Amino acid sequence: MPFNPNLEDLTDYPFEALRALLNPVTPRVNDEIIAMSLGEPQHQPPPLLAETLAAHAHEWNRYPPMAGTPELRQAIVDWLTRRYNLATGALDPERHVAALAGTKEGLYLFASLVVPRRKAGRKPVVLCPNPYYLVYNGAATMAGADPVFLDATRDNQFLPDLDAIPAETLERCALFYLCSPANPQGTIASLDYLKKAIRLAREYDFVLAADECYAEIYDQVPPPGALEACQGLGGGFDNVVVFHSLSKRSSAAGLRSGFVAGDPTLVGQFKRLRDFGGCQVPVPVQAAAAALWRDEAHVIENRARYRRKFDLAEAAFAGRYGFYRPAGGFFLWLDVGDGEQAALRLWRDAAIRVLPGGYTARAANAGVNPGAEYIRLAIAHDEATLDAAFARIRRVL
Ligand SMILES: Cc1ncc(COP(=O)(O)O)c(C=O)c1O
Repeated sequence: MPFNPNLEDLTDYPFEALRALLNPVTPRVNDEIIAMSLGEPQHQPPPLLAETLAAHAHEWNRYPPMAGTPELRQAIVDWLTRRYNLATGALDPERHVAALAGTKEGLYLFASLVVPRRKAGRKPVVLCPNPYYLVYNGAATMAGADPVFLDATRDNQFLPDLDAIPAETLERCALFYLCSPANPQGTIASLDYLKKAIRLAREYDFVLAADECYAEIYDQVPPPGALEACQGLGGGFDNVVVFHSLSKRSSAAGLRSGFVAGDPTLVGQFKRLRDFGGCQVPVPVQAAAAALWRDEAHVIENRARYRRKFDLAEAAFAGRYGFYRPAGGFFLWLDVGDGEQAALRLWRDAAIRVLPGGYTARAANAGVNPGAEYIRLAIAHDEATLDAAFARIRRVL
């Protein structure tokens, strides 16, 4: 049967690789299994979600507007304006925003919008941080581009070094996926860094897609955003889109609700494409999403709960495994020497599942996988479970 040949270049999804590594092994301990491998929020979303869904239960009969109801788009614009100190009226709900069924599908489909057949006379390039969220690579590959991986290591404060990208690569670049706060390292790109990335996008005529889905889970300082950087630079929102989600902000991963916002030409064309292949968000879900974007109280509480978890992690791991307190996100990125071996030992001897860092990265530059020495732990469980997990980890590693 003929398949799209680009499929052959898709790497294994990391959780497939994790199953292959761990499932043949049975833990030697009777402790309860603790899965810290998946970045799934464990807090409950606020009651507002279920209440709003119930209040809109008569609207399940309606076909949802693909780009989002006017109420949802207005709530998103109001939130973006508040959160990033944008000038009132800078964003128009009609032109600058579109609803998504979670950011995953939007990030994926976006590459097929902006990857041309050729750029600078050659096969186009999509820039991805390394380690990276697997969807960036999948989207780039299936859109017919060459993914180019920019290592984000301790040496460059876990952010791709923008000065090190060769001009020839920038000329071929159609799209740059940038993640801040970064999954897995939790690094926050500064406003200056974002401005530099935007200047490059405009100079070399590519699109900066800023994945900001962890923007509301931070330790001390609210992460700046790419739209805010655009405002500081001038030039409108040209060449820039941001992706946001309720999955982490409101612990509502199951709601499947996010949005894309930015350059009105890109958003307009994306809406056109989405009319063919996008995922619609049911009207009651859009109503719940609008209510969640309008509410900050639950977000503040959620953030405070993650802070307490990072306090526990710091108390358990400070001075070990290269521990640092991440500025954002909800992952620990621990340097354990050999991530795969550590994941195996933690599973076999402590019934804890973690993700070997190498599974979220590629040996792209000089044959070195920048995640190979690390494990990624989502610190999403309740505090008692985390305490138990941290004690087991210290015992085993
Ligand atoms: C970096 C990053 N981007 C995007 C997503 C997608 O989130 P969602 O589709 O739930 O909005 C995730 C989910 O884990 C993620 O880690």
